Amino acid sequence: MLRGRKVVLREFRKEDAGRIQEWIGNENITKYLGFLMFPQTLEETEAYVERQLHKERVPSSGEFVIALADDPQLQYIGAVGLHKIDWRNRNCELGIVIGREDLLGQGIGAEAIDLVLDFAFGFLNMHKVNLTVFEYNERAHHCYLKCGFKDEGRVRQQRYYDGRYWDMIFMGITRDEHVGLRNTRAPGEGEA
Ligand SMILES: CC(C)(COP(=O)(O)OP(=O)(O)OC[C@H]1O[C@@H](n2cnc3c(N)ncnc32)[C@H](O)[C@@H]1OP(=O)(O)O)[C@@H](O)C(=O)NCCC(=O)NCCS
Repeated sequence: MLRGRKVVLREFRKEDAGRIQEWIGNENITKYLGFLMFPQTLEETEAYVERQLHKERVPSSGEFVIALADDPQLQYIGAVGLHKIDWRNRNCELGIVIGREDLLGQGIGAEAIDLVLDFAFGFLNMHKVNLTVFEYNERAHHCYLKCGFKDEGRVRQQRYYDGRYWDMIFMGITRDEHVGLRNTRAPGEGEA
């Protein structure tokens, strides 16, 4: 379990499927994600949670549940994961979703990202963490820049949304960049 000031990153639990179902049909959340083209049944969500409960010993991906630190039940509000882990070149891809619209833009995502970057660089010994974001997701882009990610390039007109095509932006952060930023502020500091 990783503890910050506002959030805790914990393991998945079977009961998380119900909370995931609460946001998975919400277009205001799913329009920013690279997957989920059709509604997801409870059975599909339960199968996803089940996969999180039984990982390989040397996994190629892993996810944490995001919960609020002041919630005694540590109920699911979202998830943050490291995917496509490349153990030879020591890089991976970060993915994150907060499923509660009322909690967006309050610094929760930035703190969860800081914590998972500590884990990626400090524990998994990654050298670089990458991600992609659609250009219309200005809140996420701003959040990633705040966490120290840099723009590295873009694939033009990669996403069809709201009647037009949008670019996909590639971003990345190295271990040294993250450690440098971390040394200038305490966990949770600097978020909204
Ligand atoms: C992306 C996400 C994890 C970020 O977490 P968050 O808690 O909302 O982000 P934070 O509050 O830490 O940071 C967001 C920043 O963007 C700013 N912001 C909010 N809305 C914005 C907007 N429409 N345009 C530009 N900036 C915006 C906030 O003010 C904040 O910056 P500040 O701290 O300098 O004031 C979360 O918004 C989310 O899960 N969104 C839905 C799913 C999603 O987009 N996933 C990512 C796919 S790449």
